[in-house]
Amino acid sequence: MLGPVILAASRSDKMRRFVSAAPGTKQVVDRFIAGETVDQVVPIVQDAADKGLEVTLDVVGEDITTVEQSYAARDAYLELVGRLKELGLGTRAEMSVKLSMFGQSLEGGHELALANVRPVVEAAAAIGTTVTLDAEDHTTLDSMFAIHEELRRDFPDTGCVIQAYLFRTEDDARRLAAAGSRVRIVKGAYKEPASVAYQDKAEVDKAFVRIVKILMAGEGYPMIGSHDPRLITITQELARQAGRKLDEYEFQMLYGIRSDEHVRLAAEGHRMRVYTAYGTDWYGYFMRRLAEKPANLLFFARSILTK
Ligand code: FDA
Repeated sequence: MLGPVILAASRSDKMRRFVSAAPGTKQVVDRFIAGETVDQVVPIVQDAADKGLEVTLDVVGEDITTVEQSYAARDAYLELVGRLKELGLGTRAEMSVKLSMFGQSLEGGHELALANVRPVVEAAAAIGTTVTLDAEDHTTLDSMFAIHEELRRDFPDTGCVIQAYLFRTEDDARRLAAAGSRVRIVKGAYKEPASVAYQDKAEVDKAFVRIVKILMAGEGYPMIGSHDPRLITITQELARQAGRKLDEYEFQMLYGIRSDEHVRLAAEGHRMRVYTAYGTDWYGYFMRRLAEKPANLLFFARSILTK
């Protein structure tokens, strides 16, 4: 019940101002956001590498409103690639980007987002790493998949995300499960209407399993983005049935969520990548994390009230 209300609030400027200014917010935000600057996030990447984990770095931000902001997003990622290069961390860390932060929803946004993301993908390739295009709300996906296809002509390792809650996704998975592809499957984190998405959690979980089967049977590299213990066990079994070795797929989880599980799966020999978000424009990302688990909202409310 609360999830859709929080997701609606994640797009409200009034709520953004309220939440950002509330005393106690920072301590809850810090659980999910690894820092504000590249320098704050570097030790986290190094620590993850020491624990045998890999990371994907996300500079938080989305739904920008000016072209200048889209250039700033590009430059923030280029700065990140520069730091990874200096520190020799290019092979441990890839990057995740939201095309709406690169200008996708502005006028002429498809071309703008492509023009902004291309140099980031190019710079990442030059240091031996890759970029994955996150999936945002369903209205943005045709553009995201077209940009993904375009980038893959020159940078075949470029990944993308598909969302189990959308009816379209099984078809997308079949199309994408070809040799050389890198596809992250997640349940889906946006507020979507019943005309395009399953509304029932059990239906989403069943679709997730069907899609993992498609990806495992295909020739690409599946990236399983979930903290759900049941789906992780099922994935391990489906990978085994498909004859995949442990390095022929990977698990991904979010920074700050089920951290013990990150280490446990890596210790079992799995490739585990931690999606690590940082930066100052954390509002949308943070609100989706609150919406995923009502207990987070109670914790958040308590921390505001006790300040
Ligand atoms: P589920 O929500 O059922 O959670 C399973 C268990 O995990 C919970 O019982 C709880 O213990 C723990 N948990 C999950 N979320 C939590 C939270 N916020 N706080 C505390 N505990 C939590 N979505 C999208 O639409 N586009 C995208 O590009 C991405 N990218 C992405 C990358 C990666 C690496 C991950 C892991 C997830 C995403 N997502 C995403 C988010 C995804 O769609 C989904 O909303 C969350 O992963 C939560 O779903 P779970 O599969 O974890 O299951």
